[in-house]
Amino acid sequence: MDKDTYILAIESSCDETAAAVMKNGREVCSNIIFSQIELHKLYGGVVPEIASRKHIEKVNQVIREALDSADCTLNDMDAIAVTYGPGLVGALLVGVAEAKALAYASGKPLVGVHHIEGHIAANYIENKDLEPPFMCLVVSGGHTHLVKVMDYDSFEIIGRTRDDAAGEAFDKVARAIGLGYPGGPKIDALAKEGNRDAIAFPRAKVDGNEFDFSFSGLKSAVLNYLNQCEMKGVEINRADVAASFQYAVIDVLTTHAIHAVKASGLNKLAIAGGVASNSSLRANISEACKREGISFYHPSPIYCTDNAAMIGVAGYYSYIKGVRHGLDLNAVPNLKIGERL
Ligand code: KG4
Ligand code: ZN
Repeated sequence: MDKDTYILAIESSCDETAAAVMKNGREVCSNIIFSQIELHKLYGGVVPEIASRKHIEKVNQVIREALDSADCTLNDMDAIAVTYGPGLVGALLVGVAEAKALAYASGKPLVGVHHIEGHIAANYIENKDLEPPFMCLVVSGGHTHLVKVMDYDSFEIIGRTRDDAAGEAFDKVARAIGLGYPGGPKIDALAKEGNRDAIAFPRAKVDGNEFDFSFSGLKSAVLNYLNQCEMKGVEINRADVAASFQYAVIDVLTTHAIHAVKASGLNKLAIAGGVASNSSLRANISEACKREGISFYHPSPIYCTDNAAMIGVAGYYSYIKGVRHGLDLNAVPNLKIGERL
């Protein structure tokens, strides 16, 4: 039997300092995540400078824990994979510098990974039979994309947001109704107590590409609704606002995703990114896929939000295709999907 391939993966693009050890691409040996959420909560969002400093403090510790809990040493690794974009430049630089130092010291190959390609690859961890081609709806704090995954390293963007990302809209609306940061999980929970048909929030139609999204109008509609209630002295039912807003987002995401799968002649739909852990989104897409005879794939919530296991999966598929980066690898905050630098 062929020798097993082990990848040490590092992720530090935003506010999670994470390291993982992956075996043969899809098997998680360890997945360590230090979340900085408690630190950034105070400010209502991620403060880039604080994130970078905390990454520096934690990166060695999470790597040590990842190796120890996988019962491995650096020597057992075949390659070191690291997120090099997109993300916050100072945050990315910590992971990239660390990975380069480890690669240099150990003589192991270095593989740079695109963060969003990592999110997509999270689907391979628990869906052992999933192989490209498939459509993937990527919904995170910074991205909303419909991506046609043609191969492990080949992607075509079918649709994208023209303004806010879905997660950004969740976070902004959560702040407006006093739920705090990060808003997504809080709206998800509160919406369960509300009526999604209570308030008719708009579903944006975007000219040009029928698969593009726009969430800034919806966000403004929620803010206007809250202002009007305040002016009229009407009490706001926060659960109804959360449920109606959430359904407006989910409705558009589901409709576009199903339409994109059918239009591209595929029969598989995957979801990825932090917002993909939203329970109503998962239920809504699952039902729609059942109706349409489409196979639906999704990672467990822990692999939806930022983690290093997903970077290890994407890193593995790049590694076996021969991708290697030099010690001149740099952080690229606006790295485009499918772009190799
Ligand atoms: O993928 P991620 O961890 O980081 C980025 O790459 O952006 O996504 C974070 C985003 C945040 O906007 C957060 O509010 C949202 O994902 N999120 C959720 C849920 N859990 C996290 N949004 C809706 N429902 C959730 N359960
Ligand atoms: Zn992410």
